[in-house]
Amino acid sequence: GVKAKIAPSMLSSDFANLASEAERMLQFGADWLHMDIMDGHFVPNLTIGAPVIQSLRKHTNAYLDCHLMVTNPLDYVEPLAKAGASGFTFHVEVSQEYWQELVQKIKSKGMTPGVALRPGTPVEQVFPLVEAEVPVELVLVMTVEPGFGGQKFMPEMMDKVRVLREKYPSLDIEVDGGLGPTTIDVAASAGANCIVAGSSVFGAPSPRDVISILRKSVEG
Ligand code: DX5
Ligand code: ZN
Repeated sequence: GVKAKIAPSMLSSDFANLASEAERMLQFGADWLHMDIMDGHFVPNLTIGAPVIQSLRKHTNAYLDCHLMVTNPLDYVEPLAKAGASGFTFHVEVSQEYWQELVQKIKSKGMTPGVALRPGTPVEQVFPLVEAEVPVELVLVMTVEPGFGGQKFMPEMMDKVRVLREKYPSLDIEVDGGLGPTTIDVAASAGANCIVAGSSVFGAPSPRDVISILRKSVEG
């Protein structure tokens, strides 16, 4: 079976206090810390890169689930591995010609490879990556257009999650965008087990309660 991984998106945290924000989320029961890396080109927003991951790594042993919203993910493998990233999830839309090389590099550097797809990208595009000799170990189904936190969950993306879960019973399937107490049940019943949540966690009076609601929904 697949384990629930609740991953607060640090994009919604106070970046000026990243270490204490991370520590707080772990104390509240987070499994992973979701780190949104954007290059201002693949998406119209610019966030953090390897130097910030490296700084955060000095303060925590947590699993750093890095989501690469960048046009050239190959350029980030070495720097992020050195910085102490745990998961490296790139977008299928930019890696079509070289994903095999990319996945092999990610694995050889000791990180866990994952692939993400934008809302407009058909789910079939990731099948070869999951079935490859050196496969991705996680598929991230975007449930908003990547770029910003605080957007509305797209329930129609659950068809992709259902198809993936039926085809790959033990795959880590992550959903990202607009997840919170009001949307988690549809995502969990479709088969998602890794849950990214930014504004719903950081904006709540009790982030601990939100994390626990998300976990209960996935674990049933
Ligand atoms: C969006 C990012 C998400 C974002 C989620 O491009 O990939 O991780 O931070 O934020 P919420 O949960 O607020 O939609
Ligand atoms: Zn993300």
